[in-house]
Amino acid sequence: MPKPSARVSGIVPSGKDGWEVHFAAMTRKEAGEDIIMLSVGDHDFDTPAETVEACVRAVREGYHHYTQLPGVPALRAAMARSSTRCTGIETTPDEVIATPGGQAALYAAVQGVLDPGDHAIVVAPYYATYPGTFRSAGASFTVVETRAEDGFQPDAAAIEKAVEPNTRAILINTPNNPTGAVYGRAALEALADICRRHDLWLLSDEVYWTLGGGEHLSPRALPGMAERTLVINSMSKSHGMTGWRLGWLTGPEPFITLMISLNLVTTYGLTDFVSRAAIEALENDYGVREIAERYAARRTVLLDAVHGMNDVTVRGSEGGMYVMLDVSAIEPDDEKFAWAFLDKENVGVMPGSSFGEAAAGHIRISLCQPEPLLQEAAQRLRRFVSNYRREAA
Ligand SMILES: Cc1ncc(COP(=O)(O)O)c(C=O)c1O
Repeated sequence: MPKPSARVSGIVPSGKDGWEVHFAAMTRKEAGEDIIMLSVGDHDFDTPAETVEACVRAVREGYHHYTQLPGVPALRAAMARSSTRCTGIETTPDEVIATPGGQAALYAAVQGVLDPGDHAIVVAPYYATYPGTFRSAGASFTVVETRAEDGFQPDAAAIEKAVEPNTRAILINTPNNPTGAVYGRAALEALADICRRHDLWLLSDEVYWTLGGGEHLSPRALPGMAERTLVINSMSKSHGMTGWRLGWLTGPEPFITLMISLNLVTTYGLTDFVSRAAIEALENDYGVREIAERYAARRTVLLDAVHGMNDVTVRGSEGGMYVMLDVSAIEPDDEKFAWAFLDKENVGVMPGSSFGEAAAGHIRISLCQPEPLLQEAAQRLRRFVSNYRREAA
């Protein structure tokens, strides 16, 4: 075949991507082994029945057609209301654009603020798609690590040091995947200050905003930030709708107008009947409280079970769908730890270093399993840790 573009070839450079333990665990589970999978971030339950029914009704009622590019008006209105709640800033429908999932909102934001040759700063540990999203825009980026000892809170001084003359944006994610850290007011204010002084965009990925961590604080609410913050939202986590591909981007109206041009040449609007179901789900908050309560209960169960485990330290783990455990006192090589835990105890977790240097020496545990399985996994972890130490001694 003729040569593909360097742009698409460079999005995912070949080589190890850190998911080897997960895929090995999945293969063994599919072969019938008793594996507890705590490596993925997708719900173990279906979308709320009311949302499913709304979609079925919409299909039957003939919602089969092209929609307005930025989203059907009632969907934009419902998303704007949700953004008002998420960010604390009154949001109009003209300030949001519906996208097929939070990832597409992030892609649009990155395309919208960075030209080839521009530079961005990404706060780590981060969600796996971030580097590729910048590469797809031809932009370079600097990763600024948070420190485990700081509970993975961003360090403004380190971030400011990474600002270059061609820096256009900083990308953050709170509540955070993979650490579960919820960025505090002081850290967000310091970040906002950097953005204002250097005239930067702040890309704020808030797809986990309903899942724990106390009251959600969006940097869009800070003084002077609404004009330079782009918020990535999604129904995947909050409404139990990962496979429906529903998200949106919130930002200043003139910027969102430009995003409609991008939509014209990419997705050309959303699926009609899916949009109708999303309106109902957003207007009625189908599943939101139950899902939030379920994850909060699971987090408590797991953290209680891990509490007092010798040499295992909880870091971050305040919100979102994950718990991050520092196991470096037992085994500094987190990949080795994760492989051995899978081999000896049949539990699949993600090595922290898959998410960058800051999470080295950690394992990430997904809360996407029922409480009894999380309890069982914690028991296996306790046994594994004490045996590991004994064998090493
Ligand atoms: C931090 C973060 N941002 C964005 C996404 C994208 O989610 P979606 O495209 O399903 O909305 C995810 C998915 O796991 C995520 O963890």
